[in-house]
Amino acid sequence: MEGFHNVSTTMLTKKTKRSLLAAGISLLASAAIQAGEVEVLHFWTSGGEAQSVQELKAMMTARGHSWKDFTVAGGAGGNAMATLKQRVLEGHAPAAALIKGPAIQEWAELNALTNLDSMALFDKWDESLPKVVADQMKYKGHYVAVPVNVHRVNWLWANSAVLKKAGVADMPQTWDAFFVAADKIRAAGFVPLAHGGQDWQDFTVFETVALGVGGPEFYDKALLKLDKAAIGSDAMKKTLETFRRLKTYVDGKSPGRDWNVTTDMVIKGKAGFQFMGDWAKGEFLAAKQQPGKDFTCTPAPGTTNAYTFNVDSFAMFQLKSWEAQKAQGYLAYVLMGKDFQERFNLRKGSIPAHLNLKMNKFDECGKRSNVDFAATAKAGTLLPSVAHGMALSTAQQNAMRAAVSEFWNTDSMSVGDAIGRLQTLNAPVAAVVPKPVESKLANAAKKQ
Ligand code: GAL
Repeated sequence: MEGFHNVSTTMLTKKTKRSLLAAGISLLASAAIQAGEVEVLHFWTSGGEAQSVQELKAMMTARGHSWKDFTVAGGAGGNAMATLKQRVLEGHAPAAALIKGPAIQEWAELNALTNLDSMALFDKWDESLPKVVADQMKYKGHYVAVPVNVHRVNWLWANSAVLKKAGVADMPQTWDAFFVAADKIRAAGFVPLAHGGQDWQDFTVFETVALGVGGPEFYDKALLKLDKAAIGSDAMKKTLETFRRLKTYVDGKSPGRDWNVTTDMVIKGKAGFQFMGDWAKGEFLAAKQQPGKDFTCTPAPGTTNAYTFNVDSFAMFQLKSWEAQKAQGYLAYVLMGKDFQERFNLRKGSIPAHLNLKMNKFDECGKRSNVDFAATAKAGTLLPSVAHGMALSTAQQNAMRAAVSEFWNTDSMSVGDAIGRLQTLNAPVAAVVPKPVESKLANAAKKQ
């Protein structure tokens, strides 16, 4: 079966290629000779994530560059983004930061990022990336970030032994089947659904339920286009009811629990299911478990023919010193390299963003993700994950996350109230970075 890898895309004109090739080559050559320090902001602190990022550190240090971790713990990067703003305001931007989706454009808008076009031309990024991924890396047509993977968000994970003991023969394909299975798991003495009560985890489950209950068209209209009628539709009512019903299958220690501690409940056989993106697979693998044997990955109920994607990418900040720029250039080059993308993604749970990579070393979850990415791209059901920052402005994402999480946490909030809250989202929402801070940020970024 053919996935999205090994497929080539846009061709660049020969003239543009030639004119920027020299710049790219000299950048790489000098990067190889002289070492520098790269400070990298990320939020990869779980067992599987730490092993994945170790691959990158090793490749950088093998070339003599020194790696400085700027780690801000907190799933999905909410804390990291706040700390990043603070650092840039103080005039100390890191060389690179794990920034995703429209937030990349927001940082580029502040004139804080480095143009990576010469590297991209030299290394043929346009031809090596799916267009939907390449587009997100560009600001006004220029590369300012490097993608390292594609995560699929709409997965349901399960512990095989727990399912067996509970008498659940098949992974549920519908929400009705999910609740039947969850009842059996509870009756057998396990937690049916492992869920960590943090706003981004609530949001992750919510968007998956919306996709499964309402379908891709509803997801597109209600969550991506913020269409009032779609938000007020029966599909949204059913989504919210299903989402709320899931809470009755969650244990009392859920509030505030980190996602990886939650995945560990499935790994250790305390819980049956978890809805989470495939960074969860990184945890199963780090615990030496095997897909198809110890655990199972299946698209969440009702979402088999759709794919919510989440791309991890590094944006490069403007730096003053030439040494630092060279180390940064080498980092960008390594990040897009096939060798790195294979090693990293084998651990991270995602699939490489680079198209020209063979998938033979990947497990069945990775192979399926690869095949489904291509199939859903063709079918028009490849959709950006809002919960993981792939669509909407940062301000709108924050407002939707807050509304969804409030509904999850407040039993007295009616479905109608939640719909009302969500319907205000397409009205202008308060900017995340207030205007005066924004101009300070822009000035600070320019001074770096
Ligand atoms: C996602 C991110 C993943 C993983 C996860 C948990 O948003 O894309 O790489 O880190 O959050 O923190």
